[in-house]
Amino acid sequence: MLLTLIIVIFISSSITADSCESFVHGDYGRTGQCIKISACLNNVYLPKLCESKPMDVMCCFNTTISYKGCPTIIHRARWNAINPKEQTSLATPVPFVAIYDTVSPSCRTHHECVKQIQGIQKYHMKEKNWSDIGYNFLISESGLIYEGRGWNYIGAHRQGYNSRSIGIGMIGNYSLRKINKSAANALESLIQCGDSCESYAHPTYGKTGRCIKTSDCPNSLYISNLCESQPVDIKCCFSPSAPTPNCPNIVSRSEWGARAPKSTTGMAKSLPYVVIHHTTGGTCTAKSACIVKMKGFQNYHMDSNGWDDIGYSFLVGEDGNIYEGRGWTYVGAHTYGYNSQSIGISVIGDYMSQKPNAAAINSVKALIECGISRGYISRAYTLRGHRDLDSTSCPGNAFYNEIKTWTNYRSLVRSNASPQFNVPEDYLVMQDM
Ligand SMILES: *[C@@H]1O[C@H](CO)[C@@H](O)[C@H](O)[C@H]1NC(C)=O
Ligand SMILES: *[C@@H]1O[C@H](CO)[C@@H](O)[C@H](O)[C@H]1NC(C)=O
Ligand SMILES: *[C@@H]1O[C@H](CO)[C@@H](O)[C@H](O)[C@H]1NC(C)=O
Ligand SMILES: *[C@@H]1O[C@H](CO)[C@@H](O)[C@H](O)[C@H]1NC(C)=O
Repeated sequence: MLLTLIIVIFISSSITADSCESFVHGDYGRTGQCIKISACLNNVYLPKLCESKPMDVMCCFNTTISYKGCPTIIHRARWNAINPKEQTSLATPVPFVAIYDTVSPSCRTHHECVKQIQGIQKYHMKEKNWSDIGYNFLISESGLIYEGRGWNYIGAHRQGYNSRSIGIGMIGNYSLRKINKSAANALESLIQCGDSCESYAHPTYGKTGRCIKTSDCPNSLYISNLCESQPVDIKCCFSPSAPTPNCPNIVSRSEWGARAPKSTTGMAKSLPYVVIHHTTGGTCTAKSACIVKMKGFQNYHMDSNGWDDIGYSFLVGEDGNIYEGRGWTYVGAHTYGYNSQSIGISVIGDYMSQKPNAAAINSVKALIECGISRGYISRAYTLRGHRDLDSTSCPGNAFYNEIKTWTNYRSLVRSNASPQFNVPEDYLVMQDM
């Protein structure tokens, strides 16, 4: 009862007219509209963002509108990719782009292309015994770009070059004819996108780099080799006017031995919310003990809850360390309705009767400052406790009272509107562990 009440408040306070435009999709930005699935052909629709609408109305993101200065890339989940058997990270930037034809029939509609790509994946996994579809990306003649292994994982397309290249499969048999203009444009924009230096974080200036002419970057910092396929006078320009103060050290996923996520969804930048949680259960005051807990949370979230990965964006121990969960760039699973617009930070332990120690609290504050300086969190962000947004006692009374004193904390105006719709099915798994 309390839960549905809070969701009504959320809708009335944060979503104007129940449009899903206030949700930023990692790939498509704020272009969603609540419309019938049947009116959303060739587009991406997401459930649960138009909650008070009839079942067949979902949030439809327009895939022709690019975001992040990159063309739209159709995520693996949208062509129902089989999960990879294993993945190896690709060290970027890579010096080569390798282009292929798939030697299969061309495809015109999204539906046809999905069939083709699924067939190619099956062939690569079953016949060739590869761990996934071989290409990093596939492109159709209708100009659609499909994610294969993506930017971050080594493909299987050319022995000796896989770990040094991005492999792009052009869907069709091009022995006797060229790819058409739509496919050529998509290919060019995909390469440009991969070649933008925005994807490289500079330790001092964050991810603010742009590939521009040297002459357009006065008083700024140039870095060579990040815009490699561009003319020589184009370099990656980082603006020192947006310096990143020292960010606290974050114990990376590889350092704590995280499992690979089952899948990921890219997160927008400049997020409007930070949501504070506690994990409940015991605390940890040494890195080795916190790492044991991290693995436990991840196993529980993935195996018992069936999530793609550990739920939180970051966790903080009473050893003062910050542990990377989904990190800054992937959508988490910690606060129903807010995951794609917030960073979820959870302190390891139960903070009903006492707040976390100073080391943990200082690290939470430093982490938020770091996220702001790197552009992941909006400067005007709103801080909330999990209980402000869902029916839970999280992050514990003592910790909740503490965060209510922090500058960016804002509580919700409560409403008595009666619930119009059912409790979302994933409510139960959104409880604290
Ligand atoms: C998507 O956006 C493009 C460009 O603004 C527009 O022409 C097209 O009609 C939109 N499609 C849908 C389904 O809204
Ligand atoms: C397929 O690959 C897996 C892992 O690389 C290997 O263990 C297995 O023996 C291979 N199977 C065949 C039939 O080659
Ligand atoms: C590709 O096209 C060439 C030329 O038309 C043809 O000879 C070849 O058989 C085609 N390949 C496949 C796999 O269809
Ligand atoms: C490329 O081919 C596709 C599929 O036949 C077609 O829909 C599209 O309009 C073509 N584009 C150009 C620019 O020829």
